[in-house]
Amino acid sequence: MPYRLNVMLCTGTGCVSNGAFNLLEAFKTEIRKHELHEEVAVIPTGCNGFCAVGPLVVVQPDEIFYQKLRVEDVPFLVQEHFLKGRPVKKFMYTPPETKEPIPIMSNIPFFGKQMLIALRNRGLIDPENIDEYIARDGYKGFTKAITMMTPKQVIDEVKASGLRGRGGGGFPTGLKWEVAFNTQSDEKFIIINCDEGDPGAFMDRSIVESDPHSVIEGVLIGAYALGVKQTYIYVRMEYPLALKRFYIAIEQAKEYGLLGQNILGKGMDLEIEVHRGAGAFICGEETALIRSIQGFAGEAQAKYIYPAQKGLNGKPTIINNVETWANIPQIILRGSNWFASIGTRGKNGDGGSTGTKVFSLVGKVNNTGLVEVPMGITLREIIYDIGGGIKNNKKFKSVQTGGPSGGFLPESLLDLPVDFDELLKAGAMMGSGGMVVVDEDNCMVDMARYFLDFVQSESCGKCIPCREGTKRMLDILERITYGQGTEDDLLKLEELSRLIVESSLCALGGTAPNPVLTTIKYFREEYEAHVKNKKCPAHTCKSLITYTIDSKICIEKGHGCGVCRKNCPQTAITGEIKKEHRIDPTKCDKCGICFDVCKFDAIYVD
Ligand SMILES: Cc1cc2nc3c(=O)[nH]c(=O)nc-3n(C[C@H](O)[C@H](O)[C@H](O)COP(=O)(O)O)c2cc1C
Ligand code: FES
Repeated sequence: MPYRLNVMLCTGTGCVSNGAFNLLEAFKTEIRKHELHEEVAVIPTGCNGFCAVGPLVVVQPDEIFYQKLRVEDVPFLVQEHFLKGRPVKKFMYTPPETKEPIPIMSNIPFFGKQMLIALRNRGLIDPENIDEYIARDGYKGFTKAITMMTPKQVIDEVKASGLRGRGGGGFPTGLKWEVAFNTQSDEKFIIINCDEGDPGAFMDRSIVESDPHSVIEGVLIGAYALGVKQTYIYVRMEYPLALKRFYIAIEQAKEYGLLGQNILGKGMDLEIEVHRGAGAFICGEETALIRSIQGFAGEAQAKYIYPAQKGLNGKPTIINNVETWANIPQIILRGSNWFASIGTRGKNGDGGSTGTKVFSLVGKVNNTGLVEVPMGITLREIIYDIGGGIKNNKKFKSVQTGGPSGGFLPESLLDLPVDFDELLKAGAMMGSGGMVVVDEDNCMVDMARYFLDFVQSESCGKCIPCREGTKRMLDILERITYGQGTEDDLLKLEELSRLIVESSLCALGGTAPNPVLTTIKYFREEYEAHVKNKKCPAHTCKSLITYTIDSKICIEKGHGCGVCRKNCPQTAITGEIKKEHRIDPTKCDKCGICFDVCKFDAIYVD
């Protein structure tokens, strides 16, 4: 008997950390209490994408979207909606501008411009139930490949789709497969890269958590095309839920005869082994990843020969990113023409970027979360239409795409279409899909320092340009943020960047200077304010700012209320009630608490 209502409750990591599992139990208990359990099903799903408002629930079939739910909200919700049929407005998403609740999920602007291929099942199925995947055309792409296509036809289809790897570099997937296909070897391997080390990125984790079978199906298709019998998934240890769901999915696929020996009676054998990484950023780089699987330290190797020719154990090895694999079943099922018709491919059928890309949209936007958008969408559409604009009505300053080695783009490039080549031309990168929005309160020199600090500490240290060069660049940036920089430092940063890019062993060093180069290119005036005027225009760099109390406002408006003095942890503020207050600059450690607590705007930063 189909259920009258399906309560799709997000149990992605974001919502779980906000109590989603407690909510799941509360729903089950309350539904049973009202004897609704034969009419109303509660189904745990993976991340729905709109993590900013989690924990959340979508009630199907009407697609009623509830957000920020707490356990104590459940009895009322169950009674009102599930028992009496009255959806509850107070738990619905309400845009700050209109203050009018939006009941239906697809009417919420966050979901409006998205197009789902890799995330096609997110929020719609229980990731721990293979039947739900199969009910949504799961394993149909693989069945089509193995029964109706030759391995060469599968590779040609992937090539024709124009799919480029979603893990960072954007290398054409079909071409990579063709290289491995044409390399003679008694054994070939596949590796699923789910290392995902970029700070703030959670695309791959989400795909595995919400739809692990889509990745397994992609790998089955690849393994059939390349004659692979052994595959590995490399998942960082920090992803316990993704690991758990992947293990469950492997067991279920085995039970259904989709993994193991003589798959679907077609004589194909395939095993998937799970490798857990310990969270080293460099281990996402393919040569370091191979070393790590082989039991060595995760250090990058010079790539004279591609892993597709000589990789794991010296055998042809295809490494693709989780999102790349999740796209494959749909390409085979729906055809390369369908996939290639989405995105920015040129009229003559080549170049550009086809399909969609998943981004983790974070930083100073109203709607943070996971979004999948067609290639060619503009940055403005992502940030304003999907992201809902800048938090607290602040001014947009920049968007950083491509993870720690990506670049910062200014407001003048907001209408740039998002594709691999356009981002590269602008000095940034698609990367694996990190997108960090920066507002007027962020200092661009400090942002560059932050990302360089990350890559510097994550450098494997094997090659000198990356190990030492990024350290020297970091020293310079730190000096600038302390007010000790000189104009000469900007030249030094550019020169060091050029040397590191040209001579590093792997792409970690090869792209590490991007945040610095793009901030110098697009926000040079901020660097100059630091080195020439010893000022930080965003008031972020502590060494370059001072807090002062405007005595007139303090007395006239605030009547010397003393709130700043009471809250100052350094006891740097002196003054008596109803009298003028002052900050002792020698004691002040620029924490900004006085600025935040003053209700009369009597404190200013310079
Ligand atoms: C420092 C560094 C870290 C990387 N981290 C990842 C990662 O976490 N996940 C990933 O899929 N690719 C990562 N890559 C890219 C991989 O080396 C490789 O290009 C990719 O997995 C290939 O798959 P794709 O063609 O499907 O993108 C990284 C590259 C570098 C240089
Ligand atoms: S984890 Fe629930 S919406 Fe992302």
